[in-house]
Amino acid sequence: MYEDRIRRPALMNKVMSAEQAALLFKDGMTVGMSGFTRAGDAKALPAALVERARHGNPLQLTLLTGASLGNDSDGLMANAGVVARRMPFQADAALRRKINSGEVMFIDQHLSETAEQLRSGDLKGIDIAVIEAVAITADGGIIPTMSVGNSANFAQQAGKVIVEINLSAPLALEGFHDIYVPAARPHRGAIPLTTPWDRIGVTEITVDPERIAAIVITDSPDSPSNALPPDDETDAIARHIITFLEGEVKAGRMDPSLRPLQAGIGTIANAVLHGLIDSPFRNMTMFSEVLQDSAIELLDSGQLMMASASSITLSAAMHQKFIDNIEQYRERIVLRPQEISNHPEIVRRLGIIALNTALEFDIYGNVNSTHVGGTHMMNGIGGSGDFARNGQLSVFVSKSVAKDGAISSVVPFAAHVDHTEHDVDILVTEWGLADLRGLAPRERAPRIIENCAHPDYRPQLRAYFEEALQGGGQTPHVLEKALSWHARYKREGSMLVK
Ligand code: COA
Repeated sequence: MYEDRIRRPALMNKVMSAEQAALLFKDGMTVGMSGFTRAGDAKALPAALVERARHGNPLQLTLLTGASLGNDSDGLMANAGVVARRMPFQADAALRRKINSGEVMFIDQHLSETAEQLRSGDLKGIDIAVIEAVAITADGGIIPTMSVGNSANFAQQAGKVIVEINLSAPLALEGFHDIYVPAARPHRGAIPLTTPWDRIGVTEITVDPERIAAIVITDSPDSPSNALPPDDETDAIARHIITFLEGEVKAGRMDPSLRPLQAGIGTIANAVLHGLIDSPFRNMTMFSEVLQDSAIELLDSGQLMMASASSITLSAAMHQKFIDNIEQYRERIVLRPQEISNHPEIVRRLGIIALNTALEFDIYGNVNSTHVGGTHMMNGIGGSGDFARNGQLSVFVSKSVAKDGAISSVVPFAAHVDHTEHDVDILVTEWGLADLRGLAPRERAPRIIENCAHPDYRPQLRAYFEEALQGGGQTPHVLEKALSWHARYKREGSMLVK
């Protein structure tokens, strides 16, 4: 019945229900699941594990993935008590609550690093890998669906592999993937990728077919992207970035194809990339970790020549368009393991322009992308650090205020720092852009305050900086007031001094 999907006849007898496959799991196991920003996640096994736990079989797993899962799987598993430890990224409201209450231990990690730590034995090995696939080849190779993430590493290292064949994933996805797994350290050569479009691996995840312990058939689609459409503020942010990049081209630092672009997850990054439709740049490329709707729009407009990433996460309408025209995209999209899409060696070599989103940044350019109010996890650092530290241009964008103006995104001192001032070149809000290259902290502060902060908050920021200067230092601060804005928000519901 599934000959086109399971091309190795000897594996046919491994087909079973998700409930049967769920019995392979034991309390305390480490599990690696496919899935990256709601794309290519296993659908049936998470639901079956939740059911198993509900029926009095407690299961406390360490769960590793590529990045966030769709279908509410992260939340459902967290609420059923199935997830004791979770890494390296999530974006689920229910799981977020469990993390912030201390019930789930969350290890927030640069997305390029998980595979490397597993390979080096720095992390406990994977007991079971659960990988969503389009098909299994005659050699037992696994063809992933809309993301690659850490699937190759999980499948190659796990004691047992469970494959979820998803009938809703078109067979035409075969050929989009480029699976390259670096050798173990220390005797590793250079990764032979010198342009975003290089293909350096194979189109399937090679595994020993003997380790495929179960095959489960599903037809549940990926969850659609939940990014919101562009608005006046994100349009303004995009315009500031375009004007800045035009200046770079005029100054001869780049040609009109720019450098390969990386754009982060979420509403703002998607909207900013969407704004490039109205730019004069041509023959652009992307070397990113996620392709959102905006990347497909730029491919369709012809401004983007090709795009390389680890996952494709689209709205329902764009997903349909992608599937309907899939042959057009095959030569122009490459899906890679996340340790390659985000690899510092390659990001540095290609000179990436990294566009990521900040929750807040401070007057010296330190960026907080993860911790609301300095303590509560939002999603995680994701790949932003892989790109920000190693790219040619590290750009962080944010709306200047959050929560109807009660929170300023520009603060005296970031309450948690994901990206230090040393990793940040350009900051942008709807009010303007601060180019920080070659500036010392004392020069950065006025530029950030005057170009990026909301006008309502500028007097307060200027007053803080003036007072800080009295105490001297390379990076002046009034330590007892540095986090007073966050404390005021907690106390009074607004950072603004009335
Ligand atoms: N303090 C508290 N809350 C804040 C805030 C701040 N300084 N700034 C923004 N927020 C809130 C918003 O109000 C919004 O809340 P809501 O969900 O209740 O409406 C939420 O954060 C998301 O903000 P939004 O403006 O919709 O931005 P987004 O969808 O673009 O997401 C990040 C922004 C920072 C959360 C997201 O980009 C992220 O998780 N980044 C880290 C990982 C990363 O960069 N990965 C990409 C690497 S390739």
